[in-house]
Amino acid sequence: MRILVINGPNINMLGIREPDVYGTRDYNALLAFIKAAGDEAEAETECFQSNHEGAIVDTIQSAYGRFDGIVINPAAYTHTSIAILDALKAVGIPAVEVHLSDVSKREAFRQISYPGMAAVKTYMGLGFEGYRQAILYLAKNYGAACAAPRSK
Ligand code: DQA
Repeated sequence: MRILVINGPNINMLGIREPDVYGTRDYNALLAFIKAAGDEAEAETECFQSNHEGAIVDTIQSAYGRFDGIVINPAAYTHTSIAILDALKAVGIPAVEVHLSDVSKREAFRQISYPGMAAVKTYMGLGFEGYRQAILYLAKNYGAACAAPRSK
């Protein structure tokens, strides 16, 4: 199966930004981690990161017909972006939401997730491991091996 992994604003600053919250490993380490998780799940992964809401919307739209699953950490757009929510709903590709930190234990303004409303599952507070769990979840529940047998 083909999985698109989308990371939103400031995820490219991993390792530098608030290491007490997001850890000390950088974005390149995350890319390597995601590749290994994809190999484990026997899934092909492609990663995309942008600091721009419209670019994320464009990328979700372009996934239509090309990807079987989406893993998305919309970062700060989690709490503001109806456009990303609508894009996920528009393409109808099973999406899993990931957050490195446990947003449920953070500020009040982080308590809403618009894209999460279109997600089949959310992992938060697991650091990089959340991406692995998301990839394994998609492979298990939406991968070829679990596809319903065709009727005659
Ligand atoms: C985040 C949590 C968001 O609230 C924050 O704006 C981020 C990262 C996370 O991965 O924990 O940028 O999505």
